[in-house]
Amino acid sequence: MHPTARSIARLIAVAALAIAAPSWAGDAAAGKAVYDTSCASCHGPDGKGDGPVGAVLNPPPRDFSAGDFKFDANKNGTAGEDEDLALVTRKGALTYGGSPLMAGWPTLTDEQVADVIAFIRSLKE
Ligand code: HEC
Repeated sequence: MHPTARSIARLIAVAALAIAAPSWAGDAAAGKAVYDTSCASCHGPDGKGDGPVGAVLNPPPRDFSAGDFKFDANKNGTAGEDEDLALVTRKGALTYGGSPLMAGWPTLTDEQVADVIAFIRSLKE
């Protein structure tokens, strides 16, 4: 292949990969701000499910330090993917057969959701 053609082909391949890659590459540091404002009261400052509100809830808020997730919100057979966490964060757990205590945050932007998920992932011990 001509070198120019090859580099064009490579550019197209890279662009295709970028498009195919999940768009959930969030920023955990930015996500901490969202988390502290909207999630920590239940899920706890370190994600252990022991926030002041969370401590009295049944079922308890998910303990993010365990890194185990329940909901397969996109129904693809694997629970706890970024998309699953995003759907539960947006629409609430009740939508996926869980507790209404985990209300949804439909007003968070895609970026805020991606960031808060990155932060939740960082809480795993
Ligand atoms: C009022 C308390 C409360 C607040 C505030 C709260 N959650 Fe929850 N969350 C819960 C409870 C309770 C559950 C467990 C629901 C269940 O198991 O049915 C839960 C579960 C979850 C799950 C499900 C994980 C899994 O196992 O699949 C995610 C994701 C989640 N919360 C994210 C968030 C995010 C992100 C925020 C902040 C934007 C937040 N939560 C704020 C109470 C809360």
